[in-house]
Amino acid sequence: MVSDDLIVKTADYVKKQMSGEHTGHDWWHVYRVWQLAKHIATKENGADLQLVEVAALLHDIADWKFNDGDLEAGPKAARKWLESQGQPEDFILAVQDIVRNISYKGAGTSSDMSSLEGEIVQDADRLDALGAIGIARAFAYGGAHGREMYNPDVKPELHQDFESYKKNNSHTINHFYEKLLLLKERMHTKTAKQMAEHRHKFIEGYLEEFHAEWDGER
Ligand code: ADP
Ligand code: NI
Repeated sequence: MVSDDLIVKTADYVKKQMSGEHTGHDWWHVYRVWQLAKHIATKENGADLQLVEVAALLHDIADWKFNDGDLEAGPKAARKWLESQGQPEDFILAVQDIVRNISYKGAGTSSDMSSLEGEIVQDADRLDALGAIGIARAFAYGGAHGREMYNPDVKPELHQDFESYKKNNSHTINHFYEKLLLLKERMHTKTAKQMAEHRHKFIEGYLEEFHAEWDGER
């Protein structure tokens, strides 16, 4: 039996683990994903709200991008925490499945999630990569990784597999074409699709302005 107590304790644990991270994976990203996921879950029929909340809270607990590409680092960290809280095996496996599969792995790769709860958490995570916050996060990530803001000589690439996506280190504007503008079509739930529409348009407008200024038109 999952309890509210578990959600409060998990939020507290994650907040302590992630506070102060400055590349877009801080506690406040997790907090926004948690709130977005709760919002989507209440609009979708049949989602297990407690699974959604705990998975949203643990979804970036040990991201592959910060663990030498180890895709199992997140699921392992999630298990360790949930075992310490005496959670049952089927619940742990369901959370691990979501944490394992949530990440974007390139334009040509699939975004399948095996549960409705996974679809909801993935949608919430991806909404936070869109809109005004998504733009801020992309430049924060790029800056933290020493990437150029923009370089017109380096064109975007639509990565067909995870390996080439992972190795990619081009400028931040390319990230918009390689990932952010592709997310809208990959939303699973109706609620997230609607929210993504607005955030997507905002990014398109931003890029249009960016290129116009770059070209000296404004
Ligand atoms: P995912 O959940 O798909 O693994 P994250 O949510 O972990 O992605 O990504 C964290 C944030 O960093 C997102 O806003 C994402 O767009 C941004 N980001 C990831 N890779 C890059 C990159 N190469 N350049 C700029 N921003 C990036
Ligand atoms: Ni995330």
